[in-house]
Amino acid sequence: MPHSIELDTSRLHLRQWQPEDFAPFANMNADPTVMAHFPATLDRAASDAMASRCQSLIAERGWGLWALEEKSSGNFIGFTGLHIPQADLPFSPCIEIGWRLASTYWGNGYATEAAQKALQTGFDTLGFSEIVSFTALGNQKSRAVMERLDMQQDPHSFEHPAIPECNPLRKHCLYRLTKAQWQEQQH
Ligand SMILES: CC(C)(COP(=O)(O)OP(=O)(O)OC[C@H]1O[C@@H](n2cnc3c(N)ncnc32)[C@H](O)[C@@H]1OP(=O)(O)O)[C@@H](O)C(=O)NCCC(=O)NCCS
Repeated sequence: MPHSIELDTSRLHLRQWQPEDFAPFANMNADPTVMAHFPATLDRAASDAMASRCQSLIAERGWGLWALEEKSSGNFIGFTGLHIPQADLPFSPCIEIGWRLASTYWGNGYATEAAQKALQTGFDTLGFSEIVSFTALGNQKSRAVMERLDMQQDPHSFEHPAIPECNPLRKHCLYRLTKAQWQEQQH
């Protein structure tokens, strides 16, 4: 079993999930503002199941959707990290980068800061050749993170197979970043 990778930025600690994270994570997932671009908020059981899944994948692979801790307060503020999507997407197989923060912590640059560290780890430590990100077309805040990371928007949008056909959230945009593009950005 690989050891769990833990990462630091100037303001954040990206770490394995702890039992104390589950309650604040459930509060986030019950917040309609946080979940505005998902089909529904999550109840406590669904939120706990997601946190447990993130925890087991980090334990199994050493990497994943890391819990984010704000260093100045020690508070759990959400997650950012790398994931292999389960859904059969038009560009599968792929490595996805994703983020979800409690709304009180938006507007501080935390998601971008954590994602930059996750990208560095994905390319330099884990050796991935491309990392993608995708979201519902109207999720401007998430798209802004992708753009701040200099990810390139794919010209084709796609229908997310896990979202019902009649739901307007089904239409997604896709952003991609190759290792070569990322290395170029570092110079
Ligand atoms: C997507 C999400 C993580 C983006 O959060 P965010 O706070 O807007 O993004 P960042 O953490 O990168 O912060 C950027 C903002 O902080 C500001 N900022 C303030 N201090 C900053 C600093 N020291 N450094 C950088 N940016 C700073 C930036 O100007 C920017 O503000 P703006 O949105 O007014 O332009 C958040 O909206 C979220 O969790 N949404 C719900 C979950 C979700 O939809 N996830 C994606 C599904 S695919």
